[in-house]
Amino acid sequence: MATKTLFFCTDCGNESIRWAGQCSACGAWNTLVEEPVRKTTKGRTPRRDTRRSPSRGARTGPIERPTAKPLHEVIGGEETRWKTGLDELDFVLGGGIVPGSLILIGGEPGIGKSTILLQVAARLEGMDHSTLYISGEESAAQVRLRADRLEGKASDVVFLGETELEAILDEAHDLRPEVLIIDSIQTVYTPDLEGAPGNVSQVRECAAQLQRYAKEEGTAVFLVGHVTKGGTVAGPKTLEHIVDTVLYFEGTGDLDHRVLRATKNRFGRADEIGVFQMTGRGLIPVANPSELFLGERAEGTSGTAVVATIEGSRPLLVEVQALSARASYGAPQRVTTGFDRQRLALLLAVLEKRAGIAFGELDVFLNIVGGVKLVETAGDLAIAAALASSVFDRDLPGDAIFIGEIGLGGEVRAVGQVERRLAEAARMGFRRAYLPARAVPPKAPRGLSVIGIRDIAELMEQLFR
Ligand code: TYD
Ligand code: MG
Repeated sequence: MATKTLFFCTDCGNESIRWAGQCSACGAWNTLVEEPVRKTTKGRTPRRDTRRSPSRGARTGPIERPTAKPLHEVIGGEETRWKTGLDELDFVLGGGIVPGSLILIGGEPGIGKSTILLQVAARLEGMDHSTLYISGEESAAQVRLRADRLEGKASDVVFLGETELEAILDEAHDLRPEVLIIDSIQTVYTPDLEGAPGNVSQVRECAAQLQRYAKEEGTAVFLVGHVTKGGTVAGPKTLEHIVDTVLYFEGTGDLDHRVLRATKNRFGRADEIGVFQMTGRGLIPVANPSELFLGERAEGTSGTAVVATIEGSRPLLVEVQALSARASYGAPQRVTTGFDRQRLALLLAVLEKRAGIAFGELDVFLNIVGGVKLVETAGDLAIAAALASSVFDRDLPGDAIFIGEIGLGGEVRAVGQVERRLAEAARMGFRRAYLPARAVPPKAPRGLSVIGIRDIAELMEQLFR
């Protein structure tokens, strides 16, 4: 019998019987790959080992099949969480690791996925939680080298270099770790399925079996997933609906801090971020992210302004930098880092129409410092101030922050959680806050004077009169 093949989107995992240039589900281009789907004849049942030898910290006892019952009869309604002590990670997870959960950590190669998971394993070992670290990417010797550099008891972590799913599950059934780490899901394969490791169907099937394992055993399973641009390796996006929690590492390669963002979390808030610094001894949580993001701020230069944004549930101060210069030839450029270009175009148009600042013949560069993405419209006022400051080549007050959304009429619109933003600004030593007139709170934090702004013309008047 000929092997049946199907087409899979490497971005979202959608199946189709025919090839097309564009995925009909997610709209991505050139992501469909052909893969065999026929299962080989002998479906195997996972080995249930009876001569299991409980090791230190491992749980014992038979595996119980669940039976249906009313929720009030469910015992153990209160939630268990294992804290890793890496505070920013515990925070992003919603308060620690939930037993039995499947957590995906995505990010580009070299960003720190293996490092943080080895640290997690080391810390949990230190608290007598048993761990098993599976790597299909690095040899035991390589991981040992890394372990020696890291803080914590990384040398006690139990390691296995293996890529076949059945062998991994057998070992896990023997050792019964409380935390299982798979580095990475793209290297794991099952011989029950045709197709190379990293194929969409392989990745999905292996993740689904690991999900079952996690739920049955109450083991927390971490999956590492590489994010690649294009190529044949299935991206972590295909897994997002299988796993409980998705964390992505962000960061610009040349900086040593990393942002870990939860984009999905069944056990906590999505969109929460945690900030780490990569050091010689691994990733260290940054307790005060605003300080880090404002660390290299050059005061006394035109074109920079600070905004108090909200990331997840926490306020964060970030610096925006604008540079506008006479376009040397051709159409003026609009270049942004960490900010939406369309939104910049809109703000430039509003500045031109409502405040009379012409950008038509100027190149405009906009940079959000520190590799963060500014998505909140509450950043508009800071960007407008930075742009104007650059055009006029006049500094903005160094002790000021800017909060507010700008409408098409040039009006400054209210944004949420103003009090929390102001509190963070005051804590970081800012003394002035420009914010929407309608959002001025009855009482400002001590040491901070607030200036209500109704529209963009009024902002220009206040800053550059
Ligand atoms: P790694 O965790 O291997 O990345 P990933 O698993 O996401 O591909 O991180 C690799 C980078 O981190 C590498 O460039 C070296 C650096 N690093 C440190 O700076 N300090 C350390 O203590 C460790 C272990 C790694
Ligand atoms: Mg790695």
